[in-house]
Amino acid sequence: MFNKNRLLRAAVFAVAALLAARLALPLVEAYPLGAGVLLLAVAAGRKDRLNSLRVILGAALGAALFGWAGHALGQLAGSRGSLAPLAWLGWGWDVKADGWPAVLGRAGLVLGAFSGLTYKGKAVHDERHVHGLEVAAGSPEKGTRRWAGESDLAHVAEFGPPREGRFGGGTIVGKLKGRIVRLYPDKCRPPLPQHACVVAGTGAGKTYSFVIPNAIAAACEGESLVLTDPKGELACLLAPWLKSKGYKVYVFNLAYPQWSSCWNPVLEARDDEEITAFATAIVQNAAADRSGYFVMKEIQLLKALTYLLRCDFPPEQAHLRSALSLLSWPQEALDERFERAYREGRLPQEGYEEWRGAVSSNYDNAVSGLSAKINVVRAEGVAKLLSRHEIDLSVLGRERAALFCVLPIGSGHLKPVLATFYYFFFKRLYQLAAECGGRLPNPTRFILDEFANVGEIPGFVEVISTARSLGVRIQFVLQGLKQLTDIYGFAEAEAVMSNCPIQTFLGGDDATTTKYFSQRLGDAAVWATSERVSRRAAASAAWEFLNSPALGGGRAGRTETKSVVRRPLMTSEELAGMDPMAAVCLVRWALPVYLTKVGWEELPQAREIRALAARSLSEVCPARPDVKVELPPVPEGPPPEPKKRDRQERHGGRPPLAPGGGAVEDAELEELGI
Ligand SMILES: Nc1ncnc2c1ncn2[C@@H]1O[C@H](COP(=O)(O)OP(=O)(O)O)[C@@H](O)[C@H]1O
Ligand SMILES: [Mg+2]
Repeated sequence: MFNKNRLLRAAVFAVAALLAARLALPLVEAYPLGAGVLLLAVAAGRKDRLNSLRVILGAALGAALFGWAGHALGQLAGSRGSLAPLAWLGWGWDVKADGWPAVLGRAGLVLGAFSGLTYKGKAVHDERHVHGLEVAAGSPEKGTRRWAGESDLAHVAEFGPPREGRFGGGTIVGKLKGRIVRLYPDKCRPPLPQHACVVAGTGAGKTYSFVIPNAIAAACEGESLVLTDPKGELACLLAPWLKSKGYKVYVFNLAYPQWSSCWNPVLEARDDEEITAFATAIVQNAAADRSGYFVMKEIQLLKALTYLLRCDFPPEQAHLRSALSLLSWPQEALDERFERAYREGRLPQEGYEEWRGAVSSNYDNAVSGLSAKINVVRAEGVAKLLSRHEIDLSVLGRERAALFCVLPIGSGHLKPVLATFYYFFFKRLYQLAAECGGRLPNPTRFILDEFANVGEIPGFVEVISTARSLGVRIQFVLQGLKQLTDIYGFAEAEAVMSNCPIQTFLGGDDATTTKYFSQRLGDAAVWATSERVSRRAAASAAWEFLNSPALGGGRAGRTETKSVVRRPLMTSEELAGMDPMAAVCLVRWALPVYLTKVGWEELPQAREIRALAARSLSEVCPARPDVKVELPPVPEGPPPEPKKRDRQERHGGRPPLAPGGGAVEDAELEELGI
């Protein structure tokens, strides 16, 4: 599709180039050496191709126009107006000749070249301006902040489009004066992590201007990639290109399980700590209330069932859907199974203890609560996806690989699954790093779009605060900062943010977010002009009108005063109404940056990516044979008696306890006459 704006810009650029070339020809002809030196100097000073071209063009156009104007003026003076039209256009202009036309032409050339070189246009936000007001450098009492220029970022950034090789990637945040800024907080001393938090309202370009450009940047440096892909578009776009660069591609597709690899958290959890984290992530992310007695009971029950599934059922039946099935078993049958597994040495003591704790009281409440929480696996697709174990999560730390976690639209109910998935991901990478001397063989970047849909990842604060030295980079995208506080609570959300040295705002009018960024951007000392109008006693209304600036009147009676004032770089309202193509970025240990967004299609890799892109997910991940979800057979026996429940209710909802701590058998109760 044509982008009209780009087409227009290209056309203007081409016409300007032609004009400059034509008019500057005499200059180059006359002073080839001078022109060559000027060209080289400009090119050497500017590494960015497009920008240096612009400066050269500006200088050439200025030189040519001024020179030509001087020449024409000289001609006119010499010939008193009787001049052939072609001579006006500069045809046949001999720069080195004597006489007025040549002298004036030469003077114009020099003047034009300099004005072209120094022309910048009107700056509104740059290192010397805040909203067009000039920054007052010598007034720190009014504020010390200003926008960063290129030289202010040299210690934390590289410039220009991403390219293969060392320092060719980084975190792309936007363009500064036409040059792409790639942040490298790990470049400065002491090094900082490359974690980033991006906040923007919907449609602001989170995916287009952050997620995709940064996936490209990561691939340029050979980092492994984990991408949350809210609609499956990223996998189609990037997977074939990544494959062509030698990446292994995995798809964990919660939207279309037929095009996906399977992953089974029940088999993934290896020890008590992991089983606890798994059960906690599943229950808490599905619960409105995250703590409290009943939530703890449900976590205990899920832990017990996970232990049992892992050690007493064949691997084909050890999955989350089976846990849901076990919850429908009569309590006695389940109890018997636990007892037998424990007595025969298959079930570890931790699992048995969890079970005893779960059945000690309020078992029915725990069953109904937990059934509701893991109801997400009743959906056939999700049950299938979580029923086999096919993805080795640590593979990304070992070699170049990319994993796309595809989510369906409206994936809020999948939070328990996603939080568990990412928990295990971080855990496996940490273990791999520990085995490899504290660092991953291949650095891995997580770019988590729509991070609020992932839910609360257990231990995320510890992960983000320690991941740098391992080679793990975490970059997450939110619609508003409040999403983070809602998930992690105020204290933890603050800790997560403080571990992100890159914080970018791409636009949007979320009040919490704009307030946060406005405050963090700080205040600058700027020169402000105030105007005072003194009404003279004799001045009449008519004189006032005649003297008004609208009529080009004088400024009699007006006094201008310049003073230094404190000015926020951006107020919350200004952030909310910011230019849609602008972005602001906070970089730790550097001044804040006012940027222009950079869409992925502007990158040099875009052409190749578009040419290789797949039309549908089926091309990326061939459809798999149908997975059959095997469930444990329901034990035979009489249905549970309602009598028992009545009895429990008489005991305040709790089953009476035997002296040993276990539930008292019905027969015993009968004997006791209860
Ligand atoms: N820097 C940009 N240049 C040109 N178009 C852009 C840019 N950023 C975003 N867009 C346009 O806006 C659309 C929405 O962007 P997208 O990244 O999907 O929004 P978000 O993920 O924030 O909801 C894109 O499809 C693209 O057409
Ligand atoms: Mg998006």
